Amino acid sequence: SRGIACLAALSETHQILQKSCRDFANVELAPHARRHDREELYPAEQVRRLGEMGLMSVVIQEEYGGAGLDYQAYAIGMEEVARGDAAVSIVMGVNNLYLGAVQQHGTEQQKQQFLVPYTQGEHIAFYALSEPGNGSDAGAASSTAKLSDDGAYLLNGTKAWISNSKEASGGLIFATIDKSLKHKGITAFLTDKNVSGLAISKKESKMGMRATSTCQLTLDDVAVPQSQVLGAPGSGFKIAMESLDCGRIGIAAQATGIAQAALELATDYSEKRVAFGQRLSRLQMIQQKIADMALRVETARLLTWRAAWLKDNGMVITKEAAMAKLHASETATFCAHQCIQILGGMGYTTDLPAELYYRNARVTEIYEGTSEIQRIVIANCVLNSISN
Ligand code: CAA
Ligand code: FAD
Repeated sequence: SRGIACLAALSETHQILQKSCRDFANVELAPHARRHDREELYPAEQVRRLGEMGLMSVVIQEEYGGAGLDYQAYAIGMEEVARGDAAVSIVMGVNNLYLGAVQQHGTEQQKQQFLVPYTQGEHIAFYALSEPGNGSDAGAASSTAKLSDDGAYLLNGTKAWISNSKEASGGLIFATIDKSLKHKGITAFLTDKNVSGLAISKKESKMGMRATSTCQLTLDDVAVPQSQVLGAPGSGFKIAMESLDCGRIGIAAQATGIAQAALELATDYSEKRVAFGQRLSRLQMIQQKIADMALRVETARLLTWRAAWLKDNGMVITKEAAMAKLHASETATFCAHQCIQILGGMGYTTDLPAELYYRNARVTEIYEGTSEIQRIVIANCVLNSISN
C-alpha cells in the first residue's frame, strides 16, 4: 500500500517492526497529535506504550532492558512514530541519544544506575549540551565543573533548549573542567534531576513540537560524584560528537516521517478535491509537486537507512549521518510547505494537520546541528578525504 516504502529491502524483523509501529502511530499517535500540540500536553500514555514496544531503548542490549535491535530498526521506528506525531518522536529520540552514550561509555555501575531505569519509558532522560551562548559552537561550553574538597564536582552555569527536561528523571550534562583547554576540557556528567542546585529556570514557548518540553536548566553548585563522570574527564566533546553522529540518524528519520505524512495528506487531498472540473491530482502542476515530494522523501529515507546500515556494520558515519540529517530535514520543510500549497486554504487551517507538519518540520533543520553545521561537517569530511 502507499507509504510502506522499500519493504522488499527490509529483513523480516524490520518489516514486522515497521508494520507494528505504523499501526500504533495510526491508532494511538496521529489522532491525538493536534490536541496535544494545541494544549501543550505531554504525551505520557504514548511514551509509556513506546516503552512497552522497545522504542525508548532500541539499540540497548537486552541484558540492560533494551530492545537489543540495530540502528536500522531505530530509523524505521523513528520514522513511523514521527509520521504519527513528531513531538512524541522527540521524547523517543532524545532518550535513545542519551542511552546510546551511556551504553557506549558507561561503567557497569553507571549502566545499572543511569541506563537500566531509562529503557522502558517509565523514566526519561535529557541530554544537555547547548547553552544560551553556545549552540552550534558546542566546544565553547562555558558551564563549569570544579573538583571540591570532598572529591565531588560542583557544576555551575546554564544549559539551554534542553528537550524532555521538565518530565525527565535524570540525564547527561556537559560542562568544562578547564575552559583554557577549549573542547578538550569538556566533560560529561550523569546526574539525577532531583538534586540540589539543578533547576528549570524557563520553559520555552515554541512554534512546533509543543507537546514536549524544552527548558533552560540552571546549575548552582550541583554536586556530582567522580563516579558519575561518563568516560574520562576531558573526553566529553568526543562523546558528544560520537553520540550525535547516531542521534542524527534519528533526526533524519524523524524528518522523513514528517515528510512522508505531508506527502500522504497532499496526495489524498489531491485525489478528492475538484477544481476546474477535474481532480487536483489530474493537474500537471500538482503532479509535479507530488513527484518532487516523493523523490525527496525516498532519497531522504535511503540516505537515512544507508547511515544506519553503515553504523550497524561498524563504520564511522559522521559524513553519512550529516548528509541524511541535512537532506531529510530540508525535505521535511519542503514537503510540509508543498502540502499546504496543494491543500490551498485548507492547508492553512487547523482543521487538517498540514500546518502542524509545517511547524514541526522546521526545527529539524535546527537541532542536533543546524543545516549550516551539517554542511560544514560534510565539507570537512569530503575535503579531508581528498587531502588524505
Ligand atoms: N566523532 C568523533 N570525534 C569528532 C567528531 C565526530 N563526529 N567531530 C569532531 N570530532 C573531534 C575532532 O576529531 C577533534 O578531535 P581532536 O581534539 O582530537 O583533534 C575535536 O572533536 C574537535 O573537532 P573540530 O575542531 O572539528 O570541532 P569544532 O569545535 O570545529 O566543532 C562542530 C565541530 C561539528 C561544529 C560541532 O561543534 C557540532 O557538531 N556542533 C553542533 C552542535 C549540536 O549538534 N548540538 C546538538 C545538541 S543536542 C540536541 O539538539 C538534541 C535534540 O535535538 C533534541
Ligand atoms: P547559533 O549557534 O547561535 O546559530 C545561529 C545561526 O548561525 C544558525 O543559522 C547557524 O547555522 C548559524 N551559524 C552558527 N555558526 C555557524 C558557522 N560556523 N558557519 C555558518 N553558519 C553558522 N540542545 C541540547 O543540548 N539538548 C537538547 O535536548 C536540545 N533540544 C532542542 C530542542 C529544540 C526545540 C530546539 C529549538 C533546540 C534544541 N537544542 C538542544 C539546541 C540546538 O541543538 C541548538 O539550537 C542548535 O545546535 C543551534 O544552536 P543555537 O540555537 O545557539 O544557534
